[in-house]
Amino acid sequence: MAKTVIDIMAMKEKGSKITMLTAYDATMARLLDGCGVDMLLVGDSLGMVVLGYDSTVPVTMDDMLHHAAAVRRGAPEAFVVGDMPYGSYQTGVRDAVKNALRFIKEAGCDCVKLEGGRKVVPVVTELVQSGVSVVGHLGLTPQTASQLGGYKVQGKDLTAARIMLDDALALQDAGAFCLVLECVPAELAEIITAKLRIPTVGIGAGAACDGQVLVLNDMLGMFTNFLPRFVKRYQDLAPLMRQGVEEYIAGVRSGAFPAKEQSFQSVTDYSSLI
Ligand code: KIV
Repeated sequence: MAKTVIDIMAMKEKGSKITMLTAYDATMARLLDGCGVDMLLVGDSLGMVVLGYDSTVPVTMDDMLHHAAAVRRGAPEAFVVGDMPYGSYQTGVRDAVKNALRFIKEAGCDCVKLEGGRKVVPVVTELVQSGVSVVGHLGLTPQTASQLGGYKVQGKDLTAARIMLDDALALQDAGAFCLVLECVPAELAEIITAKLRIPTVGIGAGAACDGQVLVLNDMLGMFTNFLPRFVKRYQDLAPLMRQGVEEYIAGVRSGAFPAKEQSFQSVTDYSSLI
C-alpha cells in the first residue's frame, strides 16, 4: 500500500528502520518498489551517476523533472522524494515554491528534499505552508561541497557539531518531516537522532539514524568511477554487465545471435522477391 508522510514519521516512533534508495528511471523504480523499499529518492546524484557530470551542480529542474516523472510512472504506489537541484531554491522563496510545486504537480512526487540548515528555513516554512512536504539534508551537502572544503566528513569539532544540531532543530521547527544526514560522525548523528522528533536517514552517518539511504548505482556496483567509504557494495554488477555486453558483441560478430528462437518465421513464399 502507498506510504504517506505520516507513515514515514511513525516508523521512528515504532523503531522500524527506514530504507531509502535513489532511483532515476521507471525500470529501476518498479524493481525497487517491488522489493519493498520505503522511500525512492530521485537524487540530484543523477548528475554524476546518470548524466556524466563530475558534481551535482549542473543538474537542472528539467533534468530532475524528466527523471522524477519516469520514476513515478515506474512505481505509481511508491513514496517518491524529488531532490531540488542547485539553483532551484537559492534565488528566493517564490522560486523555491514554484519549483517544488513542479515536482509535485508535473512529476507526481510526494515531497521534495533540499540541502542546508537555518539559511533554508524561510524556504522550508513557505513550502510547508504551501502544502509541500520537505526532507532536509545536513552534513555534507554536495551542492555546496566547495564551501565545505570538499567531500569531507562534517561536524567533527564541537562548534560545527553544535551548529549542525541547531540547524537540525530549526529544520524540524520549520516543518521538515525527515532529515538526511550525510557524512556525519556516528556519535553526532546519534545525538541529533535522539534530539529530533522527526526521523533521520543517514548516508555515512552511522547505525543510530532512523533509516539509511544509498545511491543505487554505488551499492549495486554499477558506478565504478570511485567508491565513498560509507558505501557497502551489495552486488558487483559492472563485471556482470560487461560480460553480458561482450557476449552479445561476440554473438553478433560470429553470427550466433540472433538464432532461430529470436527470429520470426513466415509461411509466405517470398521466392518471387529474389
Ligand atoms: O542526490 C542524492 O542521491 C542524495 C543522497 C546522497 C542522499 O542526496
